[in-house]
Amino acid sequence: ARIRHYKWEVKYEYKSPDCFKKLVITINGRSPGPTILAQQGDTIIVELTNSLWTENVAIHWHGIRQIGTPWSDGTEGVTQCPIVPGDTFKYQFVVDRPGTYLYHAHYGMQREAGLYGSIRVALPDGESEPFSYDYDRSIILNDWYHKSTYEHAVGLSSLNFAWVGEPQSLLIQGKGRFDCSTLTTPSLDPDVCNATNPECSPYAMTVVPDKTYRLRVASLTALSALSFQIEGHNMTVVEADGHYVEPFVVKNLFLYSGETYSVLIKADQDPSRNYWMTTNVVSRNATTPPGLAILNYYPNHPRRSPPAVPPAGPAWDNVRARLDQSLAIKAHQGFIHIPPPTSDRVIVLLNTQNTINGYVRWSVNNVSFTHPHTPYLIALKQNLTEAFDQTSPPDGYDFVNYDIYKTPNNTNATVSNGIYRLQFNTTVDLYSKMPTRNPNNSETHPWHLHGHDFWVLGYGEGKFDMFNDPKKYNLVNPIMKNTVPVHRYGGTALRFRADNPGAWAFHCHIESHFYMGMGVVFESGIDKVGKLPSSIMGCGATRGVHRP
Ligand code: C2O
Repeated sequence: ARIRHYKWEVKYEYKSPDCFKKLVITINGRSPGPTILAQQGDTIIVELTNSLWTENVAIHWHGIRQIGTPWSDGTEGVTQCPIVPGDTFKYQFVVDRPGTYLYHAHYGMQREAGLYGSIRVALPDGESEPFSYDYDRSIILNDWYHKSTYEHAVGLSSLNFAWVGEPQSLLIQGKGRFDCSTLTTPSLDPDVCNATNPECSPYAMTVVPDKTYRLRVASLTALSALSFQIEGHNMTVVEADGHYVEPFVVKNLFLYSGETYSVLIKADQDPSRNYWMTTNVVSRNATTPPGLAILNYYPNHPRRSPPAVPPAGPAWDNVRARLDQSLAIKAHQGFIHIPPPTSDRVIVLLNTQNTINGYVRWSVNNVSFTHPHTPYLIALKQNLTEAFDQTSPPDGYDFVNYDIYKTPNNTNATVSNGIYRLQFNTTVDLYSKMPTRNPNNSETHPWHLHGHDFWVLGYGEGKFDMFNDPKKYNLVNPIMKNTVPVHRYGGTALRFRADNPGAWAFHCHIESHFYMGMGVVFESGIDKVGKLPSSIMGCGATRGVHRP
C-alpha cells in the first residue's frame, strides 16, 4: 500500500462552466477538483488550505467509511469544526475498498458552488473485477445555478422563504451550456454570458473504436434527479456505490445525488462520427435544458457535433421506469454479502415538510435537524452534555393513522440537534418514508449514510407497505450501497450494522433539503473512538483549544 499525498488550495474564482460567469469554488484552480486515483489499502493524505478568505470549509469523502478515523469524515458540525480561512487542515484516511467514490464540501451549501470531485479506488495488483474492459473513465453529473450559494442559503432560512427553484443548466464533468439569450436581464456584455467561451464547450470523452470502456458515472446534483444516456449505445451496469452489481443493460441510467455507478460501454457503432451523451432532469417537472457532452470516436475531431439531434430523455414523471431500475440492482452473484436475518432495532423515518415558527423546514419524525456548535464527535467523546439536546428523536411515528396521500399537517414539529444512540455492533433497520406535498410531482429523495454501507432490502409503495411485512425483504442478494432513493409515496427499507465507532450523518443528499433539516445523526461505539486530533477542535465548547 502506498501513501498518496495531495496539497489542495480551495478558493473562489470566476468561471463560466455553462457560459455564464460566476464565482466558483475551485481546488487548485479546478472544478470539478482533481480525481483521486488510488489502490485498495492506500493511505490518502489531503492537506487542504482554505483560501476562501471569508468562508469556512470542510470536505467529506463520500463512500469512504473512515474506519478508525471518524474525525476525517469531513462533516462540519458532526465530525469536525469548520476549517477557518487561512488554515490548513490535514485529512488522512485509508481507502479500504475498491470502487467509485466522491468527495465534496460538507459545510453550509458550498457543494453547489463547485467544490466536488471523484475518487477511484483500484483493486490490488493481480486482482481483477468480475467483468473486463480496456479503459477506465470517470464523469460527474451536476446541476448548476447562477445565484450564489449564499443567496440560496439565505432564501431557505428566511421567514420570507425563497425556494432555490430549478437549476439553470446541467453539467457533465463540469461543463454545460446555458442559452445566454434567455437571461432575464439580457446582456450584450460578453463578460456576463458568452456562448463562445471555450470554458463552456461540451465535455468530450474520446474512445477508440471497438474498445470497451468502464465509465464511472456519479451524480452530485444540488437538487435534480437525472437520467443519463449515450446516443446509440447501451450501458451495462456493473457497479453501484463500490459494490458489484449482477449486470443488467439500460438505455437510460437514473442517478440520484450521491450515487455512483460503473457502466460498461462498447465503442461498436459507426466510427466515422461522434455521438451525444445527454443528461435530463427527471422526477421534477423542470424547465432545465438537458446537459450535453460528446462521445468522440477517435480520430474524429472531439469538437465535431454529432450529426443528429440529441436523443430525448425519458418522461420526467415516469416513476415506474425509475422504480424498475431500483429493483433491478442486486448484488453480483459472486459477491453477495448476506445481511443479518433480523435486526435489533427498527427506526421508521417519516419525511415531511412543514412550517416551524413560520420557517419552512423538512422534518424527520417531526424533528427538524439543526447542527450543534460543538461537533458531536467531540461532544460525545468528551461528554459535553450541554453541547446538544440529549433527548433522542423518536424511532417512529403513528403510521397506522398516517395518511401518506394527504398533505402532511405536522403542527407539532420541532427543531432539534438530538441524535440517535445506537448500541455498538447491533443491526438497525431504517425505513425511510416519503409522502408528497404536491400530488403533481413525483419527487424522489436520495438518502446517504456516512461511515457505513447498508443493505437495500426493498422498496415499498403506499400506506400499507413493506415495513409492516418484513417477509417481503430481500435477504438473498440485496445490494449494499451508501446512497439510495426513497421514491414518492413510497419507502425504502435498509439494514446496517452499527460497527463503525463514531458519529455519522444520515441525510437527504439534496443540498437544500439537508440545509432545511432533512437529516439525522447516529452515534455508536463512541468509547471505542481513539484519541481525537486537536485539529478538529476550536469551535463551540472547544473554543480556545490549541490548534496546531
Ligand atoms: Cu455526500 Cu453527507 O454527503
